[in-house]
Amino acid sequence: MGQQPREQWGTRAGFLMAAIGSAIGLGNIWRFPYIAYENGGGAFLLPYLIALLTAGIPLLILEYSIGHRYRSSAPLSYRRISRPAEAIGWWQVAICFVIASYYAVIVAWAVRYAWFSVGQQWGDDPDAFFFNDFLQVGEEPGMISGFVAGVAWPLVAVWAIVLVVLALGVRKGIEKSTRIFIPLLVVLFVLLVIQALTLDGAAAGLNTLFTPDWSKMLDGGVWIAAYGQIFFSLSIGFAIMVTYASYLRRKANLTGSAMVAGLANSSFELLAGIGVFAALGFMATAAGTSVDEVATSGIGLAFVAFPQIISTLPLGGTLFGVVFFLCLVIAGLTSLISIVQVIISAVQDRTGLGRVQTVLVVGGATALASILLFPTPEGLYILDAADRFINQYGIALAGLVMVLVFGWILRRLPLFEKHANAVSSIRLGWWWKIALGGITPVLLGFMMWDSLRTELTTNYEGYPESFLLVAGWGVAIGAIVFGIVISCIPWRRADTIARLDAERGAQGDGQTPVELDEPDRIAPLGRPAEDTDKEGDR
Ligand code: ALA
Repeated sequence: MGQQPREQWGTRAGFLMAAIGSAIGLGNIWRFPYIAYENGGGAFLLPYLIALLTAGIPLLILEYSIGHRYRSSAPLSYRRISRPAEAIGWWQVAICFVIASYYAVIVAWAVRYAWFSVGQQWGDDPDAFFFNDFLQVGEEPGMISGFVAGVAWPLVAVWAIVLVVLALGVRKGIEKSTRIFIPLLVVLFVLLVIQALTLDGAAAGLNTLFTPDWSKMLDGGVWIAAYGQIFFSLSIGFAIMVTYASYLRRKANLTGSAMVAGLANSSFELLAGIGVFAALGFMATAAGTSVDEVATSGIGLAFVAFPQIISTLPLGGTLFGVVFFLCLVIAGLTSLISIVQVIISAVQDRTGLGRVQTVLVVGGATALASILLFPTPEGLYILDAADRFINQYGIALAGLVMVLVFGWILRRLPLFEKHANAVSSIRLGWWWKIALGGITPVLLGFMMWDSLRTELTTNYEGYPESFLLVAGWGVAIGAIVFGIVISCIPWRRADTIARLDAERGAQGDGQTPVELDEPDRIAPLGRPAEDTDKEGDR
């Protein structure tokens, strides 16, 4: 195993683009519009904004600081903060494995739907087409009973693209592809929204989305929804941002990048809300009903309501459909790439394997799990349960645990504040520590308690208990157990690094952790390339 230099982003703009690409995903295009609508419309924007400022951006800065300071994957970075914290990193790796396996399937559906848009192949009944003809959903959740080829082959194609990009590496693969994908996505999506706004009835749709229902502000569920949306949408709690920031050069504007990424993501989300509801307004007007009647939630919005809209468009429905689903594909791909990179980088740090080998073995295994489980009649049920549980008791819980462990137990927020301030343009002050150490844990704790209470008294979607025990609880608890077990297995190279970190901390200011390229002392963990920052300043 030869020692490979640790990879680095070519430019700061490249990192920022990749971070924005990770954030903007399926969560922005189909999740945000219906979450906003269901939770008070215009009034939802207030809790949403508060969630962005008190949890979203502060957590983003925390993740950036950890990744940038330790320049290692999540498990190794956390271990260098405190030995037992490594378990949180492996837990997040398991969360990424689960999310990647089903996220890819939704991207694969969008690939097929871009094609189905040509000539509106879903016919008169997009609902029946989606569930019966395309997904061939079984009667009830349970054991896998077959294979749906029409979903499997686009899924194989999606995985092939993701693995090729990852095998090409951080700079040549992730950075280059997002530099093409993200501007393309923004241009296509803006055109789509402009077209949607010119449709008859667009104003009715926007009124429905933005009319504030202030009574909802007193509903705890609305606040939970706002925090949940910010977590998923900004890609925090998955360790993606720890991983991406670990490839930054020493000179990097952490707080400024977090602000830009947070605001870009939310702007795109608002744009998606406007576009989707303008289109729903058009559909309701054409059908002579109210927007409430046609606004379905979740998966149904993209794959049932949108085909209906496309079929109703007088001219150019095909183009509108192709562009809409292409946007979903692009947004989904850049997020999926970032999710899988968390796993790749953790395994690379742990085993010392080269990038291509790791992508083949670990990426291949994730792809295989995804291809075996989801293109099946039971796939949609598994996806739905896994998504619900891994979001609630995976991402959000991991975010809460990170804040509690690093903020409350280990009291490292001042250290990370100092670290971020030393390299960033915008200085962190008291608000960052209050938001992370006070507001976020209290609100997230409440959110967790409230949703757990509901979960324990009612079966999600009325699914059978045995099914939820495996596909819901099993997945969420399994990820935690995986994290603990893997972190208990001794890991010599990590011990060496931790020891060197400790020695340096004892001798010096405790501010400069050991570089992974300490000559000859740390076996092939990967060492940062020349840190000249020439390119980084571009
Ligand atoms: N942040 C990604 C999304 O919004 C995961 O879909």
